Amino acid sequence: MATRTAGTGILSDENAQKREEIIGLLTKAYWMEIETVMSYLANSVNPDGVRAQEIIESLRQDIQEELGHAQQFANRIKELYGVVPGSLEFKAEQSYLQPPEQQTDIVHIIRGVIEAETGAIEHYNKIIEACDGVDWVTQDMVIEILHDEEGHKRLFEGFLREYEVEGLA
Ligand SMILES: [Fe+2]
Ligand SMILES: [Fe+2]
Repeated sequence: MATRTAGTGILSDENAQKREEIIGLLTKAYWMEIETVMSYLANSVNPDGVRAQEIIESLRQDIQEELGHAQQFANRIKELYGVVPGSLEFKAEQSYLQPPEQQTDIVHIIRGVIEAETGAIEHYNKIIEACDGVDWVTQDMVIEILHDEEGHKRLFEGFLREYEVEGLA
């Protein structure tokens, strides 16, 4: 911290406590993205069947996007004078995105993705609110990421709708 200088905004001394709060929220977001990368990676490889191909292709693209989000969160943690945690601090939470019993169970994956995206949307809304009036840069960054997650969620809701219409979900 020796290089830190007093100033205005979120990097100022007077906002040290707020910074800690935001770093905590960003760290949770970072882990969520990392776990999503793991889950989407597995679920982009495991599925079998003709119908699985669209999901596989979509998740393959998402892996890169979610990894990009993790990098953005990590960089912002550092900019706020925080330290990006090491892997030993990781705790898995996505019970709903574990491989299904049958690898042709695409609905299981679609529902899991929707749940993961919904969780991200919820947490990122919280960060955006916590940043209001005090950290515009984090807020701006997370708004953009939130936009991506809403797009992912909407896409998979569309996939689910197709299965519902056919009575398969
Ligand atoms: Fe993400
Ligand atoms: Fe996403």
